[in-house]
Amino acid sequence: MIIRQRGTLLPWLLLLLISAARSQSDTECHKSINDATYDFTALSGDQTVSRTRLSPPTNMTDTLRFNVCNALSLLEDVSSDDQCPNGTWACLSTTNIKQGVSDRVVAVIPIAHEPELQAEYTMLSSPRGVKITLHGLSYPSPTTSEPTPQAFVLNLLCATEQSQPQFSSYDGTQATVEWSAPSGCNFRSPTEGDSETPKEAVGSGIGWFFLLLFIAFAGYFSLGAYYNYTTYGATGVDLIPHRDFWREVPYMLRDVVSHLCSSFQSRPSASRGGYISV
Ligand SMILES: *[C@@H]1O[C@H](CO)[C@@H](O)[C@H](O)[C@H]1NC(C)=O
Ligand SMILES: *[C@@H]1O[C@H](CO)[C@@H](O)[C@H](O)[C@H]1NC(C)=O
Repeated sequence: MIIRQRGTLLPWLLLLLISAARSQSDTECHKSINDATYDFTALSGDQTVSRTRLSPPTNMTDTLRFNVCNALSLLEDVSSDDQCPNGTWACLSTTNIKQGVSDRVVAVIPIAHEPELQAEYTMLSSPRGVKITLHGLSYPSPTTSEPTPQAFVLNLLCATEQSQPQFSSYDGTQATVEWSAPSGCNFRSPTEGDSETPKEAVGSGIGWFFLLLFIAFAGYFSLGAYYNYTTYGATGVDLIPHRDFWREVPYMLRDVVSHLCSSFQSRPSASRGGYISV
């Protein structure tokens, strides 16, 4: 039991370190519009919205998959005929549902596709937000069968809470999704003056400082524990590197605090003494 606990501690710490480092670098997704910067990192990943149209005796389900930072990953359990090709950022597929018959995919539309993407980012002012337009391949018009260029539009509105994205419309050439999220708020607006800029830089600097501090501490403790474990076969509390020092830390802090308190208290009493004597 104890042996198993010993063995699992180090891999867990290393996993924590690796995941902290990975999540910082992999999912970054920022866009600059004029002088404003938007952070879409929280929206990254494949999103799915859908709507159902009644067409008795069947139902039509439109499913729109999109990703604002990358191409969509291919679905493993769907045949290549029934999904958009590699490099698609937004894919609209329509499935026909009829009782007693297995579901049939009747349309697959690469609404936004990599070589044609021509991403456009437009600032919205009232309500505040950003409009993301991504272009795609041509698809036959449902009425005239003419090849019609496709586009994906995401109206991302500034909000304090992140909502679920909503499938708003598709008119045969443009699919529109509405979404409210903090990512729709720019965090360096030119209209709000330059005073905002240094504050942001300082804020992210402090964030980086604490992240590095955390990584340094995690590395120190895991390497120290590994050393104690391999060198002395230490277990439990004995794994903590420089254990005697860390045990002293609370007492040292208490000494520092009481020293500070006494020096603060002594100052006003001294001045009061001088005041009385005058
Ligand atoms: C899809 O495209 C990406 C980049 O163009 C490529 O790295 C990847 O291997 C492709 N995947 C498939 C399944 O073709
Ligand atoms: C179509 O959707 C409606 C409402 O959601 C539901 O009542 C009906 O049973 C569905 N029909 C089929 C064929 O799935």
